[in-house]
Amino acid sequence: SLSIWAAVLAAYLVGSLSFAVLFSRLMGLADPRSYGSGNPGATNVLRSGNKVAAVLTLVFDALKGYGPVLAVLVWGGRWGLGEGTAALVGLAAFLGHLWPVFFKFQGGKGVATAAGVIFALNPVLGVATLATFAILVYFTRWVSLGSIAAALFAPFYEALIWGMGPYVGATAMMGLLLVWRHEANIKRLMAGTESRIGQKKGK
Ligand code: G3P
Repeated sequence: SLSIWAAVLAAYLVGSLSFAVLFSRLMGLADPRSYGSGNPGATNVLRSGNKVAAVLTLVFDALKGYGPVLAVLVWGGRWGLGEGTAALVGLAAFLGHLWPVFFKFQGGKGVATAAGVIFALNPVLGVATLATFAILVYFTRWVSLGSIAAALFAPFYEALIWGMGPYVGATAMMGLLLVWRHEANIKRLMAGTESRIGQKKGK
């Protein structure tokens, strides 16, 4: 129905707000697309040395996934919107982050936004996925590796614990796109040149 597509379009537009670029601009920092990995995301903003900007990027990029999905689940019932629409809306916000209409369709890798979407769809799945991410990043210091592993595990957790449904589809789709967007990171990981957090490049 029309309300489904209105919700999907709104979520895509919200997802298109590249907070890495916006906060960097607001705070007078260099454009994150011009240094480090070149990625407009929290991990790369952290490489600017400004932790506040990185945390703001992380929180707002996550909220733009969390908010639209939660809105559908909390208020969507009035328009006949249910879990299927929540899954589509989450995917739309994620796609907005990857291909933002406001930034020449050159977006990020979707880690924070996917996390926000997953937490809104299923908070327990959110905790399990975040734990997977946190354990890997704690031991390896590679944010990219934690992101890739968490993204791949999430649809399996959802399918095995809660069964097949639209959330498996949305998490699987986000996971595949997220891994694909990490192609350069995967090459660096295999070459042993991926930068670790809390270290300068090359160490
Ligand atoms: O934030 C995405 C993370 O997984 C990798 O970011 O900048 O190291 O490519 P980056």
